[in-house]
Amino acid sequence: MVFKFSSVLLVLLFFHFLVAFRLQASEAQSWIKAAYWFYGSEFPIADINSALFTHLIYAFAGLNSLSYELSLSSDSEEQDQEQHYSTFSSTVKQKNPSVTTLISIGGGNADYSVFSTLVSNSSHRKTFIDSSIKIARLYGFQGLDLCWVSANTSSDMTNMGNLFQEWRAAVKSEAANSSQAQLILTAAVQYKPDLESFSFPVESIRNNLNWVHVMAYDYYGPQWTNFTGAHAALYDPSSDASTDYGIKAWLGKGLSASKLVLGLPFYGYAWKLVNPRDNGIGAPATGPAITEDGSMSYKDIKGYIQRYGADIIYNATYVVKYCIIGSSWIGFDDAQVVKIKVFYAKEQSLLGYFVWQVSHDDNWVLSLAAAGRN
Ligand SMILES: *[C@@H]1O[C@H](CO)[C@@H](O)[C@H](O)[C@H]1NC(C)=O
Ligand SMILES: *[C@@H]1O[C@H](CO)[C@@H](O)[C@H](O)[C@H]1NC(C)=O
Ligand SMILES: *[C@@H]1O[C@H](CO)[C@@H](O)[C@H](O)[C@H]1NC(C)=O
Ligand SMILES: *[C@@H]1O[C@H](CO)[C@@H](O)[C@H](O)[C@H]1NC(C)=O
Ligand SMILES: *[C@@H]1O[C@H](CO)[C@@H](O)[C@H](O)[C@H]1NC(C)=O
Repeated sequence: MVFKFSSVLLVLLFFHFLVAFRLQASEAQSWIKAAYWFYGSEFPIADINSALFTHLIYAFAGLNSLSYELSLSSDSEEQDQEQHYSTFSSTVKQKNPSVTTLISIGGGNADYSVFSTLVSNSSHRKTFIDSSIKIARLYGFQGLDLCWVSANTSSDMTNMGNLFQEWRAAVKSEAANSSQAQLILTAAVQYKPDLESFSFPVESIRNNLNWVHVMAYDYYGPQWTNFTGAHAALYDPSSDASTDYGIKAWLGKGLSASKLVLGLPFYGYAWKLVNPRDNGIGAPATGPAITEDGSMSYKDIKGYIQRYGADIIYNATYVVKYCIIGSSWIGFDDAQVVKIKVFYAKEQSLLGYFVWQVSHDDNWVLSLAAAGRN
């Protein structure tokens, strides 16, 4: 009798584990190939090669500075955006019905004080959260991404952590009510978790976000450094400004590799050299070249190189390409660098990669390289 009972229990236990294991396996997120589409690029949404990606992210939604609701039409530029919001998901799904879409909120031009005030007040946070969920559902998005790059105080970080916690609770309850899948919640974060004497809210990120987009670029730029630099160096033996340093720092803070999605910049920077013959990495410069801020899409860099027949130099210490055209020094990532970074992400067991941004690619060469398709 005792024997029989325990064998029934064993069988039950076995089935319990089987079901639990299968649930876990089916819920585990597989390798992410994400890309941001930026409305300012004016790249036609219908031209995005969705088949190369698992996730496409609309950038950016703003905030209404009075109500703290997600804003789509507070000024004329954004009125124009409303059209894009309503068609984005259905348009990109035509070429890839299984692609998942997210709205990113904020971005480089977002008003610091509006975001800082929003996160500091629980009633504003609730307004924001409710409006974000409503808009995501209204326009057929499956997730929301916070891109608040100017957060710069210890209380910003604490409050951001509170926002993530309340956001998760709200999407959970909304999913239960609507019997739809829970919205995905993510954030774009600095390449390393630490700011001056404080850090990103790692524990709240771990508990409440599906993953973070690690912005592994802009370590140097011609507007703020007067020497040439690998702006998205994978390694740097002599400083903390590298992707490998940042990823190891996130892991060291206790965020698991399966929450980290690595950023791939599809753009580079052009510096004006002081002396064209002194032209290595770290050479003296006097500011941006070619464009106003020196930033150039991969597509434009490629065009420049072809027009001037410039030689491309590879520096394996930093994992970066650069070329010299007259007194201009241009550093960038090409298909080979992209492949090495994706290999790195796999080797570190990260969750995947994301691309900033689709319009910068040259006939999908970099996106294909990232996806392992060329
Ligand atoms: C939060 O915002 C609400 C609504 O505007 C306001 O009534 C309240 O005083 C604010 N709370 C704090 C702590 O500022
Ligand atoms: C944080 O960033 C904003 C916008 O860049 C700036 O106005 C503000 O002074 C900064 N605050 C601190 C404490 O650095
Ligand atoms: C879910 O339904 C409950 C009960 O009807 C309601 O109180 C709650 O506000 C709803 N939550 C959401 C997020 O819609
Ligand atoms: C770089 O050098 C130029 C020319 O000397 C100067 O105008 C500019 O302010 C410098 N920029 C920085 C970031 O130091
Ligand atoms: C990369 O550039 C640095 C700085 O100029 C130099 O010291 C190093 O030798 C270069 N590495 C390779 C592999 O070219």
